[in-house]
Amino acid sequence: MKAGAQDRAGADPSRPIETPEALADRFSDGRPGVVYIKPRVLFLKTEALYPAPVPLNLHLPPTAIGSISLLEAACMTAVARILRPRRIFEFGTFLGYSTSLFLANSEASCQVVSVDLGDVSADLAGAGDYSDAELRSDDRKNDDHLRLTQARLGPLYLRELGDHDRGRLTLLHQDSRTLDTGALGLDGAVDLVFVDGGHDLETIASDTRKARRMLGGSGAILWHDFNSGIHGEVTRYMASEATQDIVLSIPGTLLAIGLTGDARRDFLAAALPPG
Ligand SMILES: C[S@@+](CC[C@H](N)C(=O)[O-])C[C@H]1O[C@@H](n2cnc3c(N)ncnc32)[C@H](O)[C@@H]1O
Repeated sequence: MKAGAQDRAGADPSRPIETPEALADRFSDGRPGVVYIKPRVLFLKTEALYPAPVPLNLHLPPTAIGSISLLEAACMTAVARILRPRRIFEFGTFLGYSTSLFLANSEASCQVVSVDLGDVSADLAGAGDYSDAELRSDDRKNDDHLRLTQARLGPLYLRELGDHDRGRLTLLHQDSRTLDTGALGLDGAVDLVFVDGGHDLETIASDTRKARRMLGGSGAILWHDFNSGIHGEVTRYMASEATQDIVLSIPGTLLAIGLTGDARRDFLAAALPPG
């Protein structure tokens, strides 16, 4: 399923894998465990990998709380263009904006699977009445508001999909914490995972564990809400992640990239200039 990744990324397999320490020496601003990679570095390598300018296909980002920014959309597209995943898995469909971004900026054969709750319990109805100030300061209320918004509006950015894109998209409706990725045949069968579902520690940890199983030893995880002023538990979780694996934070965004196995070597060779 995953052979040939280095060919797709155009990396030199003989190039040694850089350690987090070596990367930190070259790219970090000194904060322990976090290595920065500028959007421009991602864009530079995307340009170098493709003979023609790389299009960025997207709708204007939704203004709803919980959506990604334009810069984040561009960075996610660059990561997908560099890695050329054959299957992408997303935690947190929400309005379908990031799902549509992956569909519109991946290879025509790439499968996209996204999970969200689909429905929420009646006791979340009050989450529609939270003030803007509450939503911007209380992570639990923010998450409940997102769940309710998703259940009320549905994936409206996926309504206009053409037949081809509809055919390569699978939407799952369930709590990600009870998702059995093995039973769905996803373990070892995914190259890129976007973790952007529930932002509490339990869900982040569970989604990340499942992401790793789906990558099966090689691939990339993109987390949203790293360094978020609201969802502090993501940053706390990521701090422990950074000690285990290479985690690249993209300045100016709430994105962090975790790389593992062949994809780690390929991505670093592709995305970083020679030392
Ligand atoms: C920040 S939004 C996702 C935004 C989307 N990725 C985008 O960029 O367009 C988070 C979503 O995660 C969903 N979510 C929260 N907890 C979840 C869980 N336990 N299982 C599945 N989805 C969950 C919420 O319903 C919400 O739609």
